[in-house]
Amino acid sequence: MPNLTLQLFGIPALSHPDGAPAPTTGAVKNLALLAFLTLEPGPHTREEIATLLWGDSTDEQARTSLRQALTRLKSVVGEGLTVTRQTLQLTQPPRCDVLEFLAAADQNPAAAAGFDVPRFFSGLNIRHAPGFEEWISTTRHRLLTIYSRILTRLAREAMERWQWRAAVEWAERLIGVNSSSEESYQILVEALFLVGERSLALERIQEYETGSVRESGAATSAAFRDLKRKIEAGATTNQPISEEWLARGPQLDCALVGREQEWRTLMDAWRAIRRGRSKVLLLEGEAGVGKSRLADDFTRYGSAHGAVVLRGRGYDAATGTPYGPVVEALRCGLTAPGLAGTDPEWLTEATRLLPELRRIFPALPEPLPGIDPAGRWRLYEGVAQLVMALAAESPVIVLLDDLQWCDSETCALLHFLARRWASAPVALVATLTLGELERDAPAARLCRALRVQNQAVTMTLAALSEEQVWTMVYEMGHIQGAEAGRRFAHRVYDVTRGNPFYVMELLKTMFAQGLLAAESATGKWTAGPEVLESSQPLGMPRTVQDAISERVARLPGQLRDLLATTVLAGSACETDLLSHVHGISRLHVAALCEELVWRRYLVENQGVYRVSHQLIGDVVHQELTASRRREIHRSIGLALQTIAPGEPHREFAGRIARHAEQGGERRMACRYALIASAAALGRYAPDEAMTWLDLAAANAEDQEQTDQVNRLTVEVLEFGGWPEAPTAPRLRTSTQASSLAQADLDFG
Ligand SMILES: Nc1ncnc2c1ncn2[C@@H]1O[C@H](COP(=O)(O)OP(=O)(O)O)[C@@H](O)[C@H]1O
Ligand SMILES: [Mg+2]
Repeated sequence: MPNLTLQLFGIPALSHPDGAPAPTTGAVKNLALLAFLTLEPGPHTREEIATLLWGDSTDEQARTSLRQALTRLKSVVGEGLTVTRQTLQLTQPPRCDVLEFLAAADQNPAAAAGFDVPRFFSGLNIRHAPGFEEWISTTRHRLLTIYSRILTRLAREAMERWQWRAAVEWAERLIGVNSSSEESYQILVEALFLVGERSLALERIQEYETGSVRESGAATSAAFRDLKRKIEAGATTNQPISEEWLARGPQLDCALVGREQEWRTLMDAWRAIRRGRSKVLLLEGEAGVGKSRLADDFTRYGSAHGAVVLRGRGYDAATGTPYGPVVEALRCGLTAPGLAGTDPEWLTEATRLLPELRRIFPALPEPLPGIDPAGRWRLYEGVAQLVMALAAESPVIVLLDDLQWCDSETCALLHFLARRWASAPVALVATLTLGELERDAPAARLCRALRVQNQAVTMTLAALSEEQVWTMVYEMGHIQGAEAGRRFAHRVYDVTRGNPFYVMELLKTMFAQGLLAAESATGKWTAGPEVLESSQPLGMPRTVQDAISERVARLPGQLRDLLATTVLAGSACETDLLSHVHGISRLHVAALCEELVWRRYLVENQGVYRVSHQLIGDVVHQELTASRRREIHRSIGLALQTIAPGEPHREFAGRIARHAEQGGERRMACRYALIASAAALGRYAPDEAMTWLDLAAANAEDQEQTDQVNRLTVEVLEFGGWPEAPTAPRLRTSTQASSLAQADLDFG
């Protein structure tokens, strides 16, 4: 048989694989015969076929027509058709969409669902052949049964994965095939409801009820009526968060304990800033010791006394964009009164990092095109000038939390800024855990450089004493019976060694385990003898990881899944992102996340969530299997692509690339890493650009992608390698910046 393709979904047609029409088979019945022989393999008697296609003719006419049809078919399909005196058989059937559909049905349901099965043999009229018409109708019925089974399976799977939007689509298609299927309506209606389309869900219920009653006269099933009642009542069908779970444990809040010495130092610094001086404050210590807490209390004090606070955070595993922590901090200054005092030239430069500035100052010109080292200087100076303009109005506190994770570009910029601000009322506060850093990590180098600056103060936080842990417990637990309370504090200290994060996690876990309880009227804590008496074996988790893990395990499944996605999303996780990944409405996401924020798993800022403490993130991460992580990354990558504004998704490209890589989507990873690299170069961040290129190179799938990577690598190397000494920066206008000392340029 020559290489031919028989299409039977839609108007039947025979063609070459490239789509060009095959030599015509003549009368439509010849094509019908070919279809029948293709789908019904094995030998058929001449009588059977004659009756099938020419049943309305005399025997003689039918035999003649069959003979002619066979001659014609033979000329088209050649050796593939074996004809004897009694029988005929298609030994080599053509490629046929129906056969492909049947093969995919079990192996690859999603692919099978892509065939247009409802249009089997449509648009071709075979007259005077009642036998054939009957065959078409039975075959169509058989195919549709398989097709419905596949759609049902896909719809159910989507429901199980909480992809309710997808479930709606599958169910709609199912209803298109079989409008009397109660199961399809049940899935559709439930999914619509879960997406937040309650009134649409009710409409479809009504549609099914009238349709089905009209057709069969039968009433709907009890399950269907039950679903209807729930939706009418507006009650969620998905109530994973039990009352019991909600009731367990109070929200733990504790005033700052200890830290008197550090606080005095901070207040000295504050007074210096008020007098117009600058300060660099480094808060060091192990994870959980209370660095962020102390810095937060300081910034709160500052803003209560008129300071502008700009806060940004470093992230693990380079999930952010270049200068991400600084960008995050600068965003906080968008509403500050001094902003408009910035020279437009510098504002223009700052738009490279902060495009939002254009919304506030629409008349700003585009920054100069081109990428050269002098451009990097202009960008850095733009940021410095912007903050100095804010500081001209009121003192500024710039807080960089978790500096240890800042990438090299961010560190270079911070180093520059610390020196540029040396005579402005700006406090640069950074928290960091140096223990996690290699000596040559950019943040470690930056710290060494900052420490030697005149205005720098380093504070190393130690764990709390047993007495201080007792103060925490006493205060939060409204404890009166001091003796038992102290015994309890002793046990807590014994396990936690005074790390306040660990203390908090341990207490929360003990509430979740039921080892501790709070009286509802007074808020007073009570505990059983197994907690209070040291002769009893300790019921509490022995490590902070165990404590977190125990509590995460007790989270209702849906919340745990959202938490996992937020953790893997890294630096920031938008409501929209969670809504897409889990197929639930934004409203529903917000409600669930509120629960996680209340339980202190997440923190929220303007609809963006992230995990409240890296240690929690670490535990959640470890407890996911590798394949689960991969799937989540993949979903995040795909969802980001959907929610990212404007092709080519520049702002999101880096995030998409990383998630695609970790989700096993190599081509996509390479494509977006290239975009991210170009964007990084546009921000004068060659190191970052190179990191993206490394990722792109590792994932390139074909020569074209490899060539692109190579081309861009040359460009970045030329920029980063500074093959020629940079000439003095070219300024468009003479501004106060032209008086800058040359030393400010040497920030490398
Ligand atoms: N001195 C303190 N007094 C009371 N609570 C504290 C103190 N230090 C830290 N905490 C609490 O311990 C937890 C962890 O502190 P955090 O500042 O996040 O640690 P770090 O930033 O060092 O990892 C937070 O819930 C915080 O409120
Ligand atoms: Mg911290």
